[in-house]
Amino acid sequence: MEARTVDFSRTTITELMIPSFANFSGKVHGGILLGMMDKVAYVCAAKHSGAYCVTVSVDGVEFKEPVEVGELVSLSASVNYVGNSSMIIGIRVESLKPKTGQKKHTNSCYFTMVAKNEDGTLMQVPKLIFQNNEDIRRFWDAKNLKKMRNDITVMLNTEVKDMSFDAMLQSIEGDRFELGF
Ligand SMILES: CC(C)(COP(=O)(O)OP(=O)(O)OC[C@H]1O[C@@H](n2cnc3c(N)ncnc32)[C@H](O)[C@@H]1OP(=O)(O)O)[C@@H](O)C(=O)NCCC(=O)NCCS
Repeated sequence: MEARTVDFSRTTITELMIPSFANFSGKVHGGILLGMMDKVAYVCAAKHSGAYCVTVSVDGVEFKEPVEVGELVSLSASVNYVGNSSMIIGIRVESLKPKTGQKKHTNSCYFTMVAKNEDGTLMQVPKLIFQNNEDIRRFWDAKNLKKMRNDITVMLNTEVKDMSFDAMLQSIEGDRFELGF
């Protein structure tokens, strides 16, 4: 299988924010932006793998600035990391007010996608060809993100699963709750 550069699948989608995307105060719903992120992640992953891909997990989604009707939202996606069947796609979201030229960086996040064969089984994806130090840094960061996520899953499935309710209550003492039973 032929290795591919990050540039091979780099993808940018730009969309105008229309009133049906927004709430009563003209701010775009977070779910609309999430849908656009999923779309650009899919395109990028499908280009790199040359296959049908599905979304497995999403990390680091935060909405730092509101996006308003009339703005042009651009989502730039690139493959940061490839495993065996999985790819971590880094997405940068920017919004532009066309009248003033004012730009804001609203969000950066990571979508993990896997490639599937026609029969639904997992498919190995092409290796990445690094073309500069930035490609190496992004790969390294994404690999660490994957490791941290796995560590959290293991922790939740072991330590936390075996915790008693008394121990849980003790550890959240002082938080904003009261017992109703
Ligand atoms: C993702 C999926 C294939 C994992 O299946 P699995 O039997 O657990 O397979 P594996 O453990 O071998 O994992 C396959 C790959 O996914 C990655 N993966 C699995 N769970 C993950 C998670 N929660 N977050 C990130 N990556 C994950 C693994 O690291 C592995 O990567 P690699 O092949 O590069 O090493 C399976 O859960 C699936 O098909 N989910 C549905 C996805 C879907 O339909 N999404 C659309 C939303 S409607």
